[in-house]
Amino acid sequence: MSKLWNGRFGSDTDKNTDLYNASITFDIKLLPYDIKASIAHAKGLNQAKILTDIELAEIISGLNDINSEYELNQIEYSIADEDVHMLIERLLIEKIGETGKKVHTARSRNDQVAIATRLYTIDQLQIIETKLTAWVNTLDELSQKHKADIMAGYTHLQAAQPITLGFWFDAYKQMFTRDLKKVANCIELMSESPLGSAALAGSSYDIDRNYTASLLGLTPTQNSMDSVADRDYIIDSLYITSMISIHLSKMAEEIIIFNSQVYNYITLDDKYSTGSSIMPQKKNPDIAELARGKSARMIGNLMQMLTLIKGTPLAYNKDFQEDKEHLFDSIETIKLTLDVFSPMVTTATFNLKKMEQDCELGYINATDLADYLVLKGIPFRESHHIVGSLVKYAESNSIKLTDIDLDTFKQHSELIEADIYDFISVQACLARRTTLGAPGWFMNK
Ligand code: ARG
Repeated sequence: MSKLWNGRFGSDTDKNTDLYNASITFDIKLLPYDIKASIAHAKGLNQAKILTDIELAEIISGLNDINSEYELNQIEYSIADEDVHMLIERLLIEKIGETGKKVHTARSRNDQVAIATRLYTIDQLQIIETKLTAWVNTLDELSQKHKADIMAGYTHLQAAQPITLGFWFDAYKQMFTRDLKKVANCIELMSESPLGSAALAGSSYDIDRNYTASLLGLTPTQNSMDSVADRDYIIDSLYITSMISIHLSKMAEEIIIFNSQVYNYITLDDKYSTGSSIMPQKKNPDIAELARGKSARMIGNLMQMLTLIKGTPLAYNKDFQEDKEHLFDSIETIKLTLDVFSPMVTTATFNLKKMEQDCELGYINATDLADYLVLKGIPFRESHHIVGSLVKYAESNSIKLTDIDLDTFKQHSELIEADIYDFISVQACLARRTTLGAPGWFMNK
């Protein structure tokens, strides 16, 4: 089949070569971004006196028409178009005739794909930034709402020390706030334009790259060979989407555990749960499980991209065409995950009573009992040992530490007085944890 580039070819390409070579089935997504960059490029050609004002106007109007048709889903294409860049050129020539053939002056698909993919990624990261900001705000609201609702904090999934539900939400808020900073950083880093780098060595035309970059709200990259080879921003984006999804997977895991009958801390709304085809009683936390599961996909996409780029020589290589599907997949997946995860959490009911009751399990005030003895002058290592034997005593009698009578306390340490019961109440344990960043500090913030 005849190609825009086949002047030097003696025969048509094989059918399977076309199938294998084509990226149009997935890079069609880049069409609006390519159009934007193509208009900037045409303006640069006009400024360099390669296109007349009339030709520029024709090209801009043709490109805008193609964009409108794309938005209306009216563009027809086939494998024969090879990729979105060749498709746009074909459509432009069909629309405006000979002038359309001039737009590829001083340009290669190498810088064309580099700028289009970058514009797409910047745009998508800005959408993710907005969604993530809303999610962080939601977590902030929940952390305020449940500021004083007591629950047990865990290490090794064993009850450790008392915290509050608000403090738990705040921990996740911190993670996603870090992610938000990474997204902003990444957008700033990638906001450079490779346009005008052409195949690898720029061009002999007097194109003002500062001008074309500024039309796109960017600054120009500084080495034309690196410009067409650089896919760092895709790796950065895949790392960020992986991090967001890893944080979501951690929260999802806790929600799944807290939603089980054994814990019964959380009841998920019917809108964000699914049933079983065989067990009528089931209401499963599938959304949380999928959020946990999809993180594997995100990490896989990151690994694919790192492996793809490793060892590739300067400058452009067709391997790079494989950068898109995984990028698109991670972007779409993280957007949808954020869209569904946030309302799943905001519509969930928290069983605050059960959470507080469970603070009575697992001797979560044992550290404070040890601290009590330290305040009376006993070295911590020694008080740790005394409290260890008190826990052993309570455990073998199936009682709480606060159920131990004063005589028994005194048998373990003469220094223990009647004020011990108030001292190791869960409320008191929480209120005392006032170091910066601790739950007691958080509650008074
Ligand atoms: N579809 C190609 C890609 O996605 C466009 C660049 C092709 N460049 C070339 N020299 N063959 O990477």
